[in-house]
Amino acid sequence: MSDIPWDRLIEQAVRARDHAWAPYSKFSVGAALLAGGDVYASCNVENASFPVGICAERGALCAAVAAGKRKMEALVVVAGPMIPPCGMCRQALSEFGDMKVLLVGLDGEQRSETTLSALLPGPFSL
Ligand code: THU
Repeated sequence: MSDIPWDRLIEQAVRARDHAWAPYSKFSVGAALLAGGDVYASCNVENASFPVGICAERGALCAAVAAGKRKMEALVVVAGPMIPPCGMCRQALSEFGDMKVLLVGLDGEQRSETTLSALLPGPFSL
């Protein structure tokens, strides 16, 4: 049995996804991180200058870090299809613990649980 409040994380990720700014890809993503009992959620925020856009996962990470959190316990990623975090987000998250990861696809109600270390076995570190 998992001690992670997945339903709470999913609810927050879905709520954030509703606010996604994705006029270019039309692909909305929501993410929620659990850290020290608190939840930090965000969505993807795109830009006409495409590389300026940021993924939902890194948005959530920035919110958690700005609130003083340094150890993330769990991550939920919600999209239409079930998708894993991109490589850049995996690397960004890797400095903040080997968190549990739940991928949620809303279209077919797919779910898959994994860990960050399984998704990124060899992170870069200094
Ligand atoms: N995106 C995320 O927010 N998270 C991911 O894990 C993969 C991709 C966003 C970036 C872009 O706004 C859109 O999805 C399409 O790539």
